[in-house]
Amino acid sequence: MSVEKYEVHEHDVIIIGAGGAGLRAAIEASALGCSVGLICKSLLGKAHTVMAEGGVAAALANVDPQDGWQVHFGDTMRGGQFINNYRMAELHAKESPARVYELEEWGALFDRTPDGKIMQRPFGAHTYRRLCHVGDRTGLEMIRTLQDKTVASGVEVYMETTLTRLLKDGNRIAGAFGYVRETGRFVLFKAKAVVLATGGWGKVFKVSSNSWECTGDGVMMAYDAGAELIDMEMVQFHPTGMVWPPGVRGILVTEGVRGEGGILKNNKGERFMERYDPKKLDLSSRDVVARAIYTEVQEGRGSEHGGAYLDITHRGPEYIKKKLPSMHEQFLKLADVDITKQPMEVAPTIHYAMGGVRVEPETSASTVSGLFAAGEVAGGLHGANRLGGNSLSDLLVFGRRAGEGAAKYVKSLNNPLKIDEAQIESEKKLLLRPFNESGTENPYQIHEELQNAMQEGAGLARTTESLEKALKKILELQQRAQQTRVPGSRLYNPGWHTARDIVFMLTVSEAIVRCAIERKESRGAHWRKDFLSKDETWGKQNLVTYKDTSGAMKIKMMPTPQMPAELAQLFQQEPVVTAKK
Ligand code: FUM
Repeated sequence: MSVEKYEVHEHDVIIIGAGGAGLRAAIEASALGCSVGLICKSLLGKAHTVMAEGGVAAALANVDPQDGWQVHFGDTMRGGQFINNYRMAELHAKESPARVYELEEWGALFDRTPDGKIMQRPFGAHTYRRLCHVGDRTGLEMIRTLQDKTVASGVEVYMETTLTRLLKDGNRIAGAFGYVRETGRFVLFKAKAVVLATGGWGKVFKVSSNSWECTGDGVMMAYDAGAELIDMEMVQFHPTGMVWPPGVRGILVTEGVRGEGGILKNNKGERFMERYDPKKLDLSSRDVVARAIYTEVQEGRGSEHGGAYLDITHRGPEYIKKKLPSMHEQFLKLADVDITKQPMEVAPTIHYAMGGVRVEPETSASTVSGLFAAGEVAGGLHGANRLGGNSLSDLLVFGRRAGEGAAKYVKSLNNPLKIDEAQIESEKKLLLRPFNESGTENPYQIHEELQNAMQEGAGLARTTESLEKALKKILELQQRAQQTRVPGSRLYNPGWHTARDIVFMLTVSEAIVRCAIERKESRGAHWRKDFLSKDETWGKQNLVTYKDTSGAMKIKMMPTPQMPAELAQLFQQEPVVTAKK
């Protein structure tokens, strides 16, 4: 570390974000001989990956021998309504089993079948029982395992450090700049390659399963650095978040509850999914189940606090406590509800961003040299709707590929990289702006107004009018965000951190809304009440967001990559099997 006006660290590769994708990328880049720095906003081990509770999707065929990568590929493409990048979906389906077995070799303890194989459970819109799980704590077990492996690999970890600007040498990435949360000191990371693994941006909405870290820093740093984004209109409502009491609204209720036989009912006691998807019922895809709950509530058949009832009591206390221990504890402690005796109250909650940085499937390289992205921050794999469990396999498959891609890129570089100080000065100025005494705006207030505008205007049910209204509000808030004022010093100051976060959140919201206005059809998670059907033309298009040379946000259409014949023929004969309950 040099003694300068800010801390300086240097690595071949830096990985921003220490959830599953970041950890897996770090392991790979380190194994390929790179010096790796892993930077996380929070403490190591505290990542949104733990919110994927119910399992990791991989066609191991341990429980249903008919499963295979082709079926998993088909389910993923159908779930994404065919605007997915087919090659990413193919790699994902083919490589997930190897990544799960590798995790097991590294110490992950999955639940077992009676004959000692990794146990697999059903999940929404997966044809076969495919979700390898550890009760309802799968993400946690994955993080624990990957974290141990990362630390043992000699990767250097920087905790509670927020990076806010990617730095470039000409068109190439050369590092990143930000601050240490505790001290408020600025920090520079010089690096030949950067892997973004920063997760999503659920915090732009009011009701969300996401934790405070999910503010879209990574996707916006990429956008500011000139990278293209894809499918930004596609945000996922998980059908089952907690509803009551108000302080816990949005906290995830794992799909594993329905995977283990939980049944959704309305206030008349009807199993309403029979009307929305008579074949897959409660295990229909998330977009369908979320819309069904929304419709039941709108039509007066909702639960006491505006959701649906999710009942698993018929499975008995012993089974529930064994397979869903976290849910049992969560409801008991937070809602005073014993799920072995009473139904849960649930409603849709923002959970995941399908869109993100546009990447090349084989290497996870973005459209900026030296910048790679994996996991939720990257777009393409999930199309218009992600299937449950596919995020955990996504981060393993593409985390590994991003780490490898970055390491190979680093080895191909000949010239040393230079960082123009002007980039750092402009970011410092932006970061310090809220300490300017002329500011009048409270960043928390702006965040709250943004969350309300996004929830109402760009939430589950969208119209031109609601989206235009949200956009107007976002543009107003963008002006006000330039006038924030925070009290106190730079020493651990969450208000100051929020002032920078909202700049990212406002731009990410603008991208979501502009793309949602553009896509004039309903597809997957994007439900336009004024364009209710799917449109053939839109089914062949992705929306790409980028910053033009004047700094303005632009959106263009890009044809969805066309599948080769051997993959396309998989869809000529639709499967007759439905998910088992
Ligand atoms: O419901 C869940 O356990 C979430 C899983 C996921 O988002 O993949």
